[in-house]
Amino acid sequence: MRFAGRTNAIRAFQVMELMEQARRLEARGMDVVHMEVGEPDFISADPILDAGRAAIAAGHTGYTSALGLPALRQAVADYYRDYHAVTVDPQRVVITAGASGALMLLSALLLEAGDELLLADPGYPCNRYIPLFAGAVPRLLPVGPDTAYQLDAGLAAANWSARTRGMLVATPANPTGSVLARSELAALAELAAAKQGWLLVDEIYQGLVYPAALEALPADAKHGAVAADRVGTVLQWVTDPDAPVFVLNSFSKYFGMTGWRIGWMVVPESAVTPLERLAQNFYIAPSSIGQHGALAALGEPAMAVHEQRRRAFCDRRNRLVAGLRKLGFGIPLVPEGAFYVYAELPDALSHGGIDSAAFCHRLLEGHGVAATPGTDFGEHRADAHVRFAYTADVSRIELALERIEAAVAAFTDAL
Ligand SMILES: Cc1ncc(COP(=O)(O)O)c(C=O)c1O
Repeated sequence: MRFAGRTNAIRAFQVMELMEQARRLEARGMDVVHMEVGEPDFISADPILDAGRAAIAAGHTGYTSALGLPALRQAVADYYRDYHAVTVDPQRVVITAGASGALMLLSALLLEAGDELLLADPGYPCNRYIPLFAGAVPRLLPVGPDTAYQLDAGLAAANWSARTRGMLVATPANPTGSVLARSELAALAELAAAKQGWLLVDEIYQGLVYPAALEALPADAKHGAVAADRVGTVLQWVTDPDAPVFVLNSFSKYFGMTGWRIGWMVVPESAVTPLERLAQNFYIAPSSIGQHGALAALGEPAMAVHEQRRRAFCDRRNRLVAGLRKLGFGIPLVPEGAFYVYAELPDALSHGGIDSAAFCHRLLEGHGVAATPGTDFGEHRADAHVRFAYTADVSRIELALERIEAAVAAFTDAL
């Protein structure tokens, strides 16, 4: 059978193979600490589960508007007002089938064949593969700790060619957990406007941010309450509804709803009608039951649960970063958001020729810890990095650290 050539350009994630292997090992009775998967270990908060059940009981099982339930679009606008102190017209909010669905729509809307899109390497792989599918050319720009693993306006301007149409950044980012400084985001938005291009900002980990002062906050503080220099949304400083800035977001991560498949975008006014046409034709409407769950996710009772979970993630991050550093992993910047630590292998291992794929395989098979090799996220120094997701509780993280220590020792002894 012949398949379209573009399928070959889209690579499988190594982490999927590792997850399969982890399942096989578990079936044989091995205990595995899962730090490979990019989703919260918590199930959706009770008010969300109740809303899903109620939506089914009430028969909300049909198509909705392609742009989403008006009540949910309004609730998202209210969320920006209440938690980020920004006014967003609900007409500019488009509910989607996850942030993944949002990026498919935006790729179809914005990219012609051969257009270039600038992205940071390392970065979330689908953010390059979805535009690639639209015929675009993702240009991965190597980034490191000097720019907090993010694109900056200088780097983007220096690489902007006649074919470049825009940039895609994620803040907080996957796999590095790094958060773009407010001034950097503003500079990127200015660059996009000056070049008559656009800026896509993936804010899917919004809410999962751990500023240094988080521990000192009152227990009932809302996450907007910690909004400081490096926290929030690009919409706080790009207020023109016609600015060429597109925000992608999702109920998957902070709101703990990965399987419900609901995300959203905030787009320039003129983009709403063409996006509606595309959504109608691509998937008709986002899941109706999912949207009812998402409405509950934005209510006060569920938000209180999300906030508690953020604190749990913050504790885990602190423990994991300290533990990995003690074992010789390189973590030059403490990740400020998401739930990942992107750590450089200890020098003894890299100098001994051990790469991240070999390390991750041995760590899983010999020691029962699943983590993701850096090569899933790009090419720049990817062999030397491993992504650990802290989607396991602190006691499991402690256990994982013991096992990682044993794995490092086993490798070092064998060198
Ligand atoms: C940076 C980033 N963007 C987008 C997504 C897509 O998420 P979803 O389609 O569940 O909203 C993910 C998922 O891991 C991600 O890490």
